[in-house]
Amino acid sequence: MTIEETTEAPAAAGSGAGSRAFDVERVLAALTLEEKASLLSGLDFWTTQPVDRDGVAVPGVMVTDGPHGLRKQAETPDHLGLGTSVPATCFPPAATLGSTWDPALLRRVGEALGRETRVNDVAVLLGPGINIKRSPLNGRNFEYLSEDPVISGELGTALVAGIQSQGVGTSLKHFAANNQEADRMRVSADVDERTLREIYLPGFERVVKRAQPWTVMCSYNKINDVYASQNHWLLTEVLRDEWGFEGLVVSDWGAVRDRVAAVAAGLDLEMPASGGRTDAEVVAAVRAGTLDEAVVDVAARRVLRLVARSLPALDAAAASGEGFDVDAHHALAREAAAAGTVLLKNDAAPAADGSAGAPLLPLDSADGVAVVGELARTPRYQGAGSSQVNPTRLDDALSALRAATGAEVPFAAGYTVDGADAGSGTDAAALLAEAAEVARAAGTVLVFLGLPASYESEGFDRAHMDLPAEQVALLEAVAAVNPRVVVVLANGSAVSVAAWRHLAPAVVEGWLGGQAGGSAVVDVLLGAVNPAGRLAETIPLRLQDNPSYGNFPGELGHVRYGEGLLVGYRWYDARQADVAFPFGHGLSYTTFAYDGVAAEVLRTASGADDAAADDAVVRVTVTVTNTGERSGADVVQVYVGDPESQVQRPERELKAFAKVDLEPGESREVTLDLVGRDLAYWHPVLRRWVVEGGEFVISVGASSRDLRGAATVVVEGEDVRLPLEPLSTVAEAMAHPVVGPRIQALVHGGAVAEDMLGMIGDMPLTVVADFGMGGFDRDGLTALLAEANG
Ligand code: BGC
Repeated sequence: MTIEETTEAPAAAGSGAGSRAFDVERVLAALTLEEKASLLSGLDFWTTQPVDRDGVAVPGVMVTDGPHGLRKQAETPDHLGLGTSVPATCFPPAATLGSTWDPALLRRVGEALGRETRVNDVAVLLGPGINIKRSPLNGRNFEYLSEDPVISGELGTALVAGIQSQGVGTSLKHFAANNQEADRMRVSADVDERTLREIYLPGFERVVKRAQPWTVMCSYNKINDVYASQNHWLLTEVLRDEWGFEGLVVSDWGAVRDRVAAVAAGLDLEMPASGGRTDAEVVAAVRAGTLDEAVVDVAARRVLRLVARSLPALDAAAASGEGFDVDAHHALAREAAAAGTVLLKNDAAPAADGSAGAPLLPLDSADGVAVVGELARTPRYQGAGSSQVNPTRLDDALSALRAATGAEVPFAAGYTVDGADAGSGTDAAALLAEAAEVARAAGTVLVFLGLPASYESEGFDRAHMDLPAEQVALLEAVAAVNPRVVVVLANGSAVSVAAWRHLAPAVVEGWLGGQAGGSAVVDVLLGAVNPAGRLAETIPLRLQDNPSYGNFPGELGHVRYGEGLLVGYRWYDARQADVAFPFGHGLSYTTFAYDGVAAEVLRTASGADDAAADDAVVRVTVTVTNTGERSGADVVQVYVGDPESQVQRPERELKAFAKVDLEPGESREVTLDLVGRDLAYWHPVLRRWVVEGGEFVISVGASSRDLRGAATVVVEGEDVRLPLEPLSTVAEAMAHPVVGPRIQALVHGGAVAEDMLGMIGDMPLTVVADFGMGGFDRDGLTALLAEANG
């Protein structure tokens, strides 16, 4: 992905009519300490502080949510989406975008988001959110892309690049390990470094390195007891020194506890306004000598630079009075929602005459089709909280189906959503009976089910994974009178399906489709769009199967990431546990064959992720053929396993994917490259990425559980070895290439009986020396270690 930035502000102030451009260094040099400190917090809820006095004119610029549409508040501001905001296209939230597995499409969505941001005079759109879906219960999962860091990083990169191509910025959030809403402003995510590096950080790393978001938003929570907002390791050592982040770090709204510590850690901008209180604390700390003024300069420079880099596009937009094409953006939102819709199941259903039938989808027409479920009429299309967009228009599936087919589609609400009156009153039994009647008379019944807004939201987590009981009761009542049932789901995070999926031959996961979700799902039902969405999160059989179960959401201010690396499919695969629908799964109205899976080693691998190491190490090829009768797209998924390693490695991990469009009968050879990092692990002791040389299994498939071929390659990597120390064990010493044979000789020489090896293998060398068991004393050991460590 190329990095595209808007033009920087011209060096000289005041170039061009109406330009508010200024020279960052000149302004910085002219500012007093108080003025610099004032830049480090907001003017109000959404605007940065201006400076306006003789010789200095720095405007304030607006930053607003995000991520799947603009939430620019016209009146009372808030960070929970309570107040109204200007109309903007409500694109599908991240849960749906994540299921597209389509970076090119997300790039286009990003461009549209960026344009709406710019024409509304907003400098930064506060998104995308790319936190890992650790538990299905996280109330904010709808705002996140995946349980996998490669998906999150690839799609996040595309969104950021698209938005920023419009001359405005993004805020990659929430950095980091912000995987629940419970106690979100205080909880400590207790995670080992390897897990952070391999699961929770690499999505951020990828986006930072490839797309340089203008800003990164630190999360509310602590990481291993240190607030993200005050975490020097996270905000400076990792983000800037290691990854080369060049932009500004902004706090999540209200995430700062100790402003001086936060400035020192690398948090540049505190949002929202602190009423001057924390600015004064910064000034006082500098005067007291506890904070270096140079650190304040660095943060102030970043704020100035953010303002300066946004002005060309904002000024140009204001001068031209440009707007955005509401229809085109709605159409793009519809395309994205359809692309993120996942056909979970499409089994043959009994035909009306009782004969063994065909799959229900796609529908030939709407003749004989009935719709049941309030969510078909009153769509749930986005989540609640700070990301809630005021849509420019809103499609519902029922109207869309009627409009697309011209059919009089019978409808029954079946249940109420969040207590709303469904038209026939709110008597549950009456609603159910009415729906059963409509279903009985129909050829095929579309049953719309999903989570009410009160079930999932920013600010709290879900209590369970189940659909509302009255909805499951509705499905049972419908299925009892008509077996030809298609369930269409609306939910922002996985729901349990195990108890009811046998009642529906077809199940469509529509996620939260944004403002055009209603028409998009109809496009899929009618086959106008051949579904190509794939699950970016596993749907487990039971909540209890989820790896975080028992460690979510924690207690007494701590949440222990006890499952370590085994997040999502990594866990289910390690335990060989059945799931309802696996990661990467999604059906099509056509079928695809995979042939000739091959992997070729191109060079020696290194875990370093510098430019040179980005060259392909392993080239994977596979030929994919559309073997059905419709054009369609498949997502080719490449998983890597490392069966021989000194450390635990997940069974297989997604490392590359490609969406391939194919006409009926068409074949294409797909090439996917793996770089050194794709084979590497974070060594917890050496504290760097290493590729341990040896065998790797490269599997290619249509989902994590539908692998169509595999190739084993031997890659030359590092001979990863820790220095021997006095507390190294006998077994470790024996594996050492230099002193190992000597120790073995001692063993075989009779100093230690061979059958005792199992018992003393874990004994530290010092103890062996002290007990006189190895034919060496402590001095001898020192000499041995010197020889071993060269
Ligand atoms: C959310 C952020 C959001 C901010 C501003 C916070 O509560 O966590 O994602 O950008 O509010 O509304």
